[in-house]
Amino acid sequence: MVHQATVTAPVNIAVVKYWGKRDTKLHLPTNSSLSVTLDQDYLCSTTTARADAAFKKEDGSPEDRDRLWLNGNEETIAGNGRFERCISEMRALRTKYEQTKPDATKLADLPLRIASHNSFPTAAGLASSASGYAALTAALAALYELNTFLPSSPAPAHLPIPALSKLARQGSGSACRSLMGGFVAWDMGAHADGRDSAARQIADEAHWPDMHAIICVASAAKKAVSSTAGMQATVATSPLHAARCGVPAPGAPVAAYASGRGLVDGPGGTMAQMQDAIRRKDFDTFAEVAMAESNQFHAVALDTRPPIRYMNDTSWNIVSAITAYNTLVAQRTRGQRKYAAAYTFDAGPNAVVYALQSDVREIIELLLALFPFAEGAAHDARTGMQAGERPF
Ligand code: PMV
Repeated sequence: MVHQATVTAPVNIAVVKYWGKRDTKLHLPTNSSLSVTLDQDYLCSTTTARADAAFKKEDGSPEDRDRLWLNGNEETIAGNGRFERCISEMRALRTKYEQTKPDATKLADLPLRIASHNSFPTAAGLASSASGYAALTAALAALYELNTFLPSSPAPAHLPIPALSKLARQGSGSACRSLMGGFVAWDMGAHADGRDSAARQIADEAHWPDMHAIICVASAAKKAVSSTAGMQATVATSPLHAARCGVPAPGAPVAAYASGRGLVDGPGGTMAQMQDAIRRKDFDTFAEVAMAESNQFHAVALDTRPPIRYMNDTSWNIVSAITAYNTLVAQRTRGQRKYAAAYTFDAGPNAVVYALQSDVREIIELLLALFPFAEGAAHDARTGMQAGERPF
């Protein structure tokens, strides 16, 4: 019998940005964040994991290590790196499972081969690590049949999403939000052991069906400063980040970071505003907060010493075009609408523009006329995943 599982996981794009870790091992954030999970048809990671005693080394002897391919290229699984941590956590759970169920096939000791493919540019600020680690975690959970073993989920027949989300977080923080569809918050929590730092679906994929995301690939190049390195530098040096998180100064002690403080998590902060806007389907507020959040995140990156610059000239031209378009919409509607488009940029130059269905065509025409995007622009429904009905 072949022991193999394939899982596809979608990308999520944050509208309240996660930036900074208060615990770099457990991936506990310095602030809460909120994202929209995108449709799997455009941006997704598909991962196959297989455990097999028949795997051989080049010289024909039995394989004695795990191997991983990303987009067809073999990657080294560095000891104590993020892949290794994710794999060994899942393997440890399988070992426990086999101990509690003696008739289970012994898979935990078998070498693994994992192949993952992204349908979009990797590490270019399009959240490839979110979908990548979500797919990896879910593929290993499916391979190891952990659905009956991990702590209970609302849909027992399926993999327990909250438990998987916490495991995915340890690969890449933002991955914890890709295990759920629709609109997903990641509450930073207050505890040092991370027990209350978890993703939570605030509205499912059916909630706001006319919300779309337009993906604008300004550059498919790999970013110069990884989010891991960038976050650490920001936490250590940026006074603006300290204000964002409600701590006295850069490099504040871990215990100083707690939900309920700062520009993001404090009373009336961006988390509260954004959740409220989504619940009320208030696009004007959604757009205002999303753009302000993106701007503040990039200001924080620039406030880091030495400064980090993720947006390029094309990104800034997109900001100008969207700003001018919104002014036009406000004039056209005599102030009834303030915004028809909301840009956001992650740790890279590529824009995601959120817009309502009725405006998508006009915005794409505008963007394609103004920008010679190498890879064109695509528009995307929010998510293809159904709550409690996963593709594995
Ligand atoms: O999950 P990471 O470590 O790749 O960090 C992602 C950070 C941002 O994409 C910039 C923001 C976010 O909340 O997704």
